[in-house]
Amino acid sequence: MLTRILSFIVALLSVISLNPLSEYDYSDKLGDADYIGFKEYYADYFDIGAAVAGYHCQIPETSEFLLKNYSSLTAENAFKQAALNPQDGVWNFGEADVIADFCRNNGLNLRGHCLIWGGLGSWMTRDGEGNLVSRDVLLQRMQEYISTVVNRYKDIVHVWDVVNEPFGFDLKGGAFKSNDFYAVLGEEYVTKSFEFAHEADPDAVLCLNETKVLKNKKKQDYLFGYLEKWLEEGIPIHAVGIQSHWNLWEINESPRMLQKVIDKLYSLNVDIQITECDITMNAVGGDVLEEYSDNTVLLQSKKYSKMFEVLRKNADKISSVTFWGVNDNRIYKTDDGQTYYEHALLFDENSMPKNAFYAVCDF
Ligand code: GLA
Repeated sequence: MLTRILSFIVALLSVISLNPLSEYDYSDKLGDADYIGFKEYYADYFDIGAAVAGYHCQIPETSEFLLKNYSSLTAENAFKQAALNPQDGVWNFGEADVIADFCRNNGLNLRGHCLIWGGLGSWMTRDGEGNLVSRDVLLQRMQEYISTVVNRYKDIVHVWDVVNEPFGFDLKGGAFKSNDFYAVLGEEYVTKSFEFAHEADPDAVLCLNETKVLKNKKKQDYLFGYLEKWLEEGIPIHAVGIQSHWNLWEINESPRMLQKVIDKLYSLNVDIQITECDITMNAVGGDVLEEYSDNTVLLQSKKYSKMFEVLRKNADKISSVTFWGVNDNRIYKTDDGQTYYEHALLFDENSMPKNAFYAVCDF
């Protein structure tokens, strides 16, 4: 119900706005197998990337599709600590190596995602009895982990998401999300991670990757405030990743807010990367959309188009735009286990360009 009401309001606003929805209708282009690759349109702007798993690089049709459309890849999970080093002394480089080799062999850029993500939990923070380890032990483990991973991939990974999602959302919860790393080290878990990564590869671009940056004003205050402080202290933070898991109905995820965030980050002299772009269709509040209607197709196309207009205008400040996934064949789950699709990307479940793809490439 909520979805329908929101859909109606947004559609109504679109009809009375300067850009009627029909302007975003590219249905005459759909189905063209000889379309021009996404990265070609954006060659003069920024890298276009996708988050992948190892198997995407091994299946001939998928790898061809990746090479046609993207100039950069990110591992969706294979570079996370839970995959690389799930337990003390256990290392699994297999899938990460597949992706790294695919990039090496095909001249693609590879974003390293992500070195430290407190929210995910890690063996590093606890001892054999389950108690938090001391500051020294944790710092030593972090340094060893970061240096091992960065050194293994430094020939191909030139940008690292060093810390993922450190900041919280609301006043009551404080600036940082609570997790074991924060419990032991406080804000130093962020700054030390950057120092260790910089030690391991002084040439790498080091990125702080954050979620819901447009949506939440409080998050912006925390992010901008600490960034300013850390940069003044000389912490080697070179870039900020705006994840950009947008939602079709979220009004704060707007071109105006995107421009505001870009301006602020630019004034702090950091590179900007859009690291996890998608536009989901669910209503705020978790209502699952039953149909992927013509109307939502056009609304999504319009939102993508407006966002990309801003990104192109700021191409001198933005080095890459990465989509979170390869195509729409991504299964989501509700809390009670129902599965559904979000249709959040620019390519459909058969990897064919969607209406939104043509909207983003029409400039
Ligand atoms: C965050 C992380 C990603 C991924 C998504 C969920 O955005 O940074 O690695 O886990 O959540 O899809």
